[in-house]
Amino acid sequence: MYRTHTCGELRITDKGKKVTLAGWVQKSRKLGGMTFIDLRDRYGITQLVVEADAPAELVEVATSLGREFVIQAIGEVVERQSKNPKMPTGDIEIRLEGINILNKSVTPPFTIEEESDGGDDLRMKYRYLDLRRPPLRRALMLRHRIAHEVRNYLDANGFLEIETPYLIKSTPEGARDFVVPSRMNPNQFYALPQSPQTFKQLLMVAGYDRYFQIVRCFRDEDLRADRQPEFTQIDCEMSFVEQEDVLVTFEGMMRTLFKNVLDVDIPNPLPRMSWYDAMDRYGSDKPDVRFGMEIHEITEVAKGKGFGVLDGAAYIGAISVPGAAEYTRKQIDELTEWVKRPQVGAKGLIYIKVNADGSYKSSIDKFYAPEDLEKIAKAAEAKSGDLILILSGEAKRKVQTMLGVLRLEMGGRLGLRDPKVFAPLWIVDFPLLEWDDETQRFYAMHHPFTAPKPEHEKWFYSDKKEDLERVCANAYDFVLNGTELGGGSIRIHNADLQKRMFEVLGIGPEEAEYKFGFIINAFKFGAPPHGGLAFGFDRVCALFGGQDSIRDYIAFPKNNQGRDVMIDAPSEIDQVQLDELFLDLRKPE
Ligand code: AMO
Repeated sequence: MYRTHTCGELRITDKGKKVTLAGWVQKSRKLGGMTFIDLRDRYGITQLVVEADAPAELVEVATSLGREFVIQAIGEVVERQSKNPKMPTGDIEIRLEGINILNKSVTPPFTIEEESDGGDDLRMKYRYLDLRRPPLRRALMLRHRIAHEVRNYLDANGFLEIETPYLIKSTPEGARDFVVPSRMNPNQFYALPQSPQTFKQLLMVAGYDRYFQIVRCFRDEDLRADRQPEFTQIDCEMSFVEQEDVLVTFEGMMRTLFKNVLDVDIPNPLPRMSWYDAMDRYGSDKPDVRFGMEIHEITEVAKGKGFGVLDGAAYIGAISVPGAAEYTRKQIDELTEWVKRPQVGAKGLIYIKVNADGSYKSSIDKFYAPEDLEKIAKAAEAKSGDLILILSGEAKRKVQTMLGVLRLEMGGRLGLRDPKVFAPLWIVDFPLLEWDDETQRFYAMHHPFTAPKPEHEKWFYSDKKEDLERVCANAYDFVLNGTELGGGSIRIHNADLQKRMFEVLGIGPEEAEYKFGFIINAFKFGAPPHGGLAFGFDRVCALFGGQDSIRDYIAFPKNNQGRDVMIDAPSEIDQVQLDELFLDLRKPE
């Protein structure tokens, strides 16, 4: 037997027990002739001690141990002289009677403790060492726990977990596909699924009623903290449901997760906000509603004072930053530079300080008298001590989006985005279609199987752009603290409606047949009304763990260039493989 206990298990009540532990030497130090060793495994750390008067061979072995050696330690549980209240095992130590070195280790490239001195790249290269660190271990344990709770909830609600294939044909989620060449079908390619969207709908046609899958998805898109090229969804679909049924079922799931994993109660029912409200008030379709600082339109009150920038704008919006009237010139200059960064894209920033004594100071004093500024302050719902920040421009949604980004930044700076506070909500009533000026055509805001709201179908069949822009979808997103955790919709199950959808999207009958023939055909055989959604499982884990980045909630993630630097992928393949696949390579220009 390698061990009687784990390194996280022993307490003062075990005093006097003879035990055997096995694990990794985190560190060892000598103190007054004694050797102290921190022994680590998945469960925790236990201190081992070799007394000064221990047999010479034992002292010798103990002093020879390097970091990350794997050892078996045999000894007696004793009470510690100096206890460590921060460690669960901090009241005891093991007085060693024997050590077996199970394996040596070369010196690790970085410190493997709670905090590490290794840079990102180094830790990614030696991910298996980084994974020994407690923060990553906690992250993966949390992930396991959430997956377990999800399965319990969905199973209890009659959902079947059914696997769908990874080697498929392109799915319509809007990112680029990763493709896999087929050796047996020369010059043909599989696509890896961006989601199991079409398959889960086919499962509804097949009568499986309630499906779920915790499933890997692949998207070749630009990476960010909350985006990986392969990530995991909690993917779900239900038949014979309306939007209300889906929302109730899945906020129930989230409520259960919050309760069982974090012991947090979220509101019942969850708040809902229309997409239009979210954009107008927060400048985002995934608003962080942990704090106010809402956007106010001030177009009417701010115009007409001879200031060209505002007079020429189609939309003027403002946020009032609490307590920031005391910002110095330097701080405001810095903020102005900040909004000009390409990530925000504003041309400049106008400010009005609402001073504590009721006076105003602004960057537009030349054009606006105090009473004008007061009107703006009122429209922006500013209070004394606030700093009003104003952006303007030609396109309302664009300005609102910039204000939304600025709002988040200011919320962060003011410490209003506490990761331990959770403010989930549903965003509903998304526009069905999105017009793209560049290509002069509509795109599906969610995906082309999303159904228009039945009461908007009249506009859906219109030829007018304004009508089509008004059509809302039975689509919904689950948003938490400024992150889109999940999204879905009620699907089109009627062949005519689907045909019209392809028509509106400029997908001709041939292209539709080529891309989606299988599903259009399946829908001819009695497709039930159905709908569903998918949660980004990695994002759920990260937010539950209080982090923005999903990377540490994935055991072996890719870096920002989409590379796995540990196994060095992607990599070249040899000529034999290329020949088998009938592939010729071209050098990038
Ligand atoms: P959608 O594209 O909104 O919907 O994806 C669902 C959720 O998946 C997460 N997500 C990601 N997480 C990490 N890295 C990525 N690159 C990434 N892309 C998306 C997000 C998102 O909310 N088939 C539909 C769902 C449906 O209609 O049922 C779909 O995939 O949290």
